[in-house]
Amino acid sequence: MLEQRDRWFSRASFVTAAIGSAVGLGNVWRFPFVAYKYGGGAFLIPYFVALITAGIPLMILEYGLGQMMQCGAPEALRKVKKRWEWVGWWALGVGSVISFYYAVVMAWCWNYLYYSFTVAWKDDAGGFFNEQVLQKSAGPGELGGLVWPVVFALALTWLIIYFCIFKGVRIVGKVVMVTVPLPVILLGVLLVRGVTLPGAFEGLGFYLTPDFSALMDHEVWLAAYGQIFFSLSLGFGIMIAYASYEAQTADVTNNAFITSLANCGTSYFAGFAVFSTLGYLAYMLNQPVSEVIEKGPTLAFVTYPLAISLLPKAVQIFGVIFFITLLTLGIDSAFSIVEAVVTGIRDKWEVPRKKIVFGFCVVAFLAGLLFCTRAGLYWLDIMDEWMTRFGLACVGLLECVIIGWFFKTRRLKDYINSVSEIRIGLWWDIFIKVLTPAILGTSIVLSVIERIQKPYMMTKEIPYPPWSLWVGGWLVAGAVVAVGIILMRIKGKEIE
Ligand code: TRP
Repeated sequence: MLEQRDRWFSRASFVTAAIGSAVGLGNVWRFPFVAYKYGGGAFLIPYFVALITAGIPLMILEYGLGQMMQCGAPEALRKVKKRWEWVGWWALGVGSVISFYYAVVMAWCWNYLYYSFTVAWKDDAGGFFNEQVLQKSAGPGELGGLVWPVVFALALTWLIIYFCIFKGVRIVGKVVMVTVPLPVILLGVLLVRGVTLPGAFEGLGFYLTPDFSALMDHEVWLAAYGQIFFSLSLGFGIMIAYASYEAQTADVTNNAFITSLANCGTSYFAGFAVFSTLGYLAYMLNQPVSEVIEKGPTLAFVTYPLAISLLPKAVQIFGVIFFITLLTLGIDSAFSIVEAVVTGIRDKWEVPRKKIVFGFCVVAFLAGLLFCTRAGLYWLDIMDEWMTRFGLACVGLLECVIIGWFFKTRRLKDYINSVSEIRIGLWWDIFIKVLTPAILGTSIVLSVIERIQKPYMMTKEIPYPPWSLWVGGWLVAGAVVAVGIILMRIKGKEIE
């Protein structure tokens, strides 16, 4: 006999958990530097277009699919058509790889939380991050052993994730009542501090001044779509899994709008907190804002901490606030992918929940050790590039194509409209069937060509050796697909 499916306490706990998954480290460190890198204020245009044409329609699709089928991504896609099950596993695989390094970024945050009490980075923020925290080696080939403080913090991160998720969505619903509002309030504190500092407005000018020529560049559009997918946790099977714990009668469209807008609003808001503070940094260092801005993942660990260390008073407190913000932002995104994997496995095989959660946390910890070596940052950067650029876009594209062309889209649409307050019309079909796949398809092709012609590098000075891009990029990406296909082939309990 089938056991009763787990249920959210209330609509509020579902929506909060979904927002918790979406709002993560990506909103605070990724969005501001991506926006700056791709045209400042002008980036908001492709970003907004991506939100409307891909973000919201796909969110509706994922919620609708999960809720209608009452199962996670692989099983839901199998119900659409048997041979598509692997796409669901692929989505979970991409999400899992992201969670391996995402948890390591959280581990850095734990380290920094500890260092905040003494503002340990104040003399040389860049050197501190590279030499003390990461103990960075010369290149990806030189692993150079584990960095123990990061390893311990990583273990702590997975331990906490285990306890948040091992009992299922009922506990999750409670945890997110803290981990979602808290960072938003703390961001508010950082924002008020930021905009009241001298130089803040120059910083904001940088964030908001549009460079319209950027709109002609396909890279900018790809970055905007990538950021929307990453940020809204779309294409990972997360939203499908979360929605599968909603009653079949719950409103789909409304929930999708609330989640998407809350997430993008938070990103926009976080940009103000970050850029006003960067303006202050430029003011204190007597340099133009463009000089102090980092265009990469070090923003949260070098530039922002440096700015904090120059505050006139209460330096420690702002350090603590900032890193607690990042940790609480990250935790609910990290456990959402674990939930998606657990849901996917349990829909197919009869395995006790705790065992899967435990197994996943252990495997993820072990896999994360690669990023705790002295070459960790390089591998993190390479895998992030491949997973967020190709992995996500490919899964998103397949989702649109499968649902749009191989399934009676009408059935899903009629179902969604029968339970939702806001009805979706022809626009949704156009976005899902034509526009989004066309944009994603073109950008995937263009960027594959580009990657082949021009190898990826983190900074201009240190090119990666080509083998490391093959291994960390194409090989890992291929392995994720292979695992998906293998999992599909293994026989599960037959449900029908
Ligand atoms: N949405 C999260 C953010 O903005 C990132 C994220 C998406 C993620 N999918 C994930 C993190 C899977 C871990 C695992 O930060």
